[in-house]
Amino acid sequence: MIIGVPREVKSDENRVSITPAGVHEFVKSRHEVIIEKGAGLGSGILDAEYESEGARLKRSAGEIYKNAEMIIKVKEPQQQEIEMLHQGQILCTFLHLAPDKHLTAGLLDKGIIGIAYETIEVDGKLVCLEPMSEIAGKISSLMGAYYLSSAHGGKGILAGGVAGVHSANFLVLGGGTAGINAAKVAAGLGAKVAVMDIDLERMRYLEDVLPKNCETIMSNKINIEFEIARADVIIGTVLIPGAKTPKLVTREMLGVMKQGTVIVDVSIDQGGCAETSRPTTHSNPVYDVGGVIHYCVTNMPAAYPRSSTFALTNATLPFALEIAGSGWKKAALRSSAIAMGVNIAEGRVVYQHVAEAHALPYVPIEEVLRI
Ligand SMILES: NC(=O)c1ccc[n+]([C@@H]2O[C@H](COP(=O)([O-])OP(=O)(O)OC[C@H]3O[C@@H](n4cnc5c(N)ncnc54)[C@H](O)[C@@H]3O)[C@@H](O)[C@H]2O)c1
Repeated sequence: MIIGVPREVKSDENRVSITPAGVHEFVKSRHEVIIEKGAGLGSGILDAEYESEGARLKRSAGEIYKNAEMIIKVKEPQQQEIEMLHQGQILCTFLHLAPDKHLTAGLLDKGIIGIAYETIEVDGKLVCLEPMSEIAGKISSLMGAYYLSSAHGGKGILAGGVAGVHSANFLVLGGGTAGINAAKVAAGLGAKVAVMDIDLERMRYLEDVLPKNCETIMSNKINIEFEIARADVIIGTVLIPGAKTPKLVTREMLGVMKQGTVIVDVSIDQGGCAETSRPTTHSNPVYDVGGVIHYCVTNMPAAYPRSSTFALTNATLPFALEIAGSGWKKAALRSSAIAMGVNIAEGRVVYQHVAEAHALPYVPIEEVLRI
């Protein structure tokens, strides 16, 4: 199979979807890898490193999209990339279709096979999302502490406090992968941390592994209303896999928050868990709604591309190799993880939450694989 790796074009995106070790594995399995010149530079990977493992470099994204049977990317395709995709092409990347009708319609129209990293699931674990959630979770507490400074419009409270003075209150909504990492970093900074989830088993685990300055609280409307009023930083990491994020923090609730409270909505890539959240970029990461600072960057790990590229590709490479080796249909028949990753195929939505989000007909993947 011809595998194409374009340079990422989303704002401030410096990750790349393959490392030289990945090229080595594809070439060893007799696949051809074409990479856009300079695709790895943002992650500190030189063209020559790819070439020495057998990749062929191309001058433009156009050449990659035209020739590749499978495109491997990091972030969801931007408009100019949607236009270059063609019928039957396999696209492996983070897709985040549920909150984006335009993208969903564009990809359906193109008749591609859209395999979303964020819904590839092994034993209930989102194994390709996990490394990015670890990184975004860790970054989220650092950003929360940073924007809490009065220089950035925050309350002017130091996360860890100081002798004789209270530390800051961090509230983490969702105690999954991003949530536990946010809690660990916030706790390490010395903040008082509350983690809210709806999964009791998960909260038992969090109580066991998190340090003493963390506690868990059942997530429900009444508890959220109470907790957000006393929080200095609120970190949103709630997820229902493949679906639009539930809006746990309403516009009305902003009224009970004090001026200078910071919301870091990590879950913004799936739509965000605050009603007032809208996507932002690393170049322009925050905005203010009624004195509450919102940080809603959709590609947080892009700020640390060297770590993120290697963490992501460690998780995605085995699936990409399997798809390249067997073709997407056989790979999905053999591997339920890959089958769960397929969100759209040949003009049909085969992932239920995506179909529901856009009121589109849902075709179970099994039906597409049988044909
Ligand atoms: N912005 C970024 O750059 C970036 C990067 C990586 C991940 N993410 C996003 O972060 C989010 C979290 O990802 P994750 O891997 O940690 O997910 P996860 O599945 O590991 O965790 C989600 C948690 O939310 C909990 N939850 C569900 N409904 C809830 C509710 N009503 N109240 C409280 N908790 C609830 C679940 O029980 C689970 O523990 C996702 O939207 C993911 O796409 C964003």
